[in-house]
Amino acid sequence: MISKKMQDALNAQINAELYSAYLYSAMEAYFQAENLGGFANWMRVQTQEEVSHGMKICDFLFERGGRVTLEAIAKPPGEWKSPLAVFEASYKHEQKVTGLINGLVELAAKEKDHATEVFLQWFVTEQVEEEKNASEIVAKLQMIKDVPQAMYMMDRELGMRKGD
Ligand SMILES: [Fe+2]
Ligand SMILES: [Fe+2]
Repeated sequence: MISKKMQDALNAQINAELYSAYLYSAMEAYFQAENLGGFANWMRVQTQEEVSHGMKICDFLFERGGRVTLEAIAKPPGEWKSPLAVFEASYKHEQKVTGLINGLVELAAKEKDHATEVFLQWFVTEQVEEEKNASEIVAKLQMIKDVPQAMYMMDRELGMRKGD
């Protein structure tokens, strides 16, 4: 059985992952409104990834005989001033999520919950990728500035992202 403390912390992380899905879905809507279908596609794939992160934690709790408790998901922002601002916000958000995951790893260690600690390693690795993805796009958008041809190419590139 998983401890109450660890269970509560994992439930809070489920909420954080589903909030991430909500945030990326709001970002997709922004890009749709800006006629940037490729950027919007990238955000759709990211949304689906975040839902799967949440479900991964649900499954782990089920396996451990824990209880999943779903809370309300906070309202995400809906407007940004540019595509760059969107990806800056996404990069900042992923850094925050990395902090949450690190906090969970520390709690698992403190609770001597080795199974949870091992489970969380997947998320530690995933966060390296998430931060890299967001920061690379931030760097590209900083390079592009507002050059329309470059934005067009970038939209095409991001339009090719596929989910697993
Ligand atoms: Fe995530
Ligand atoms: Fe990812």
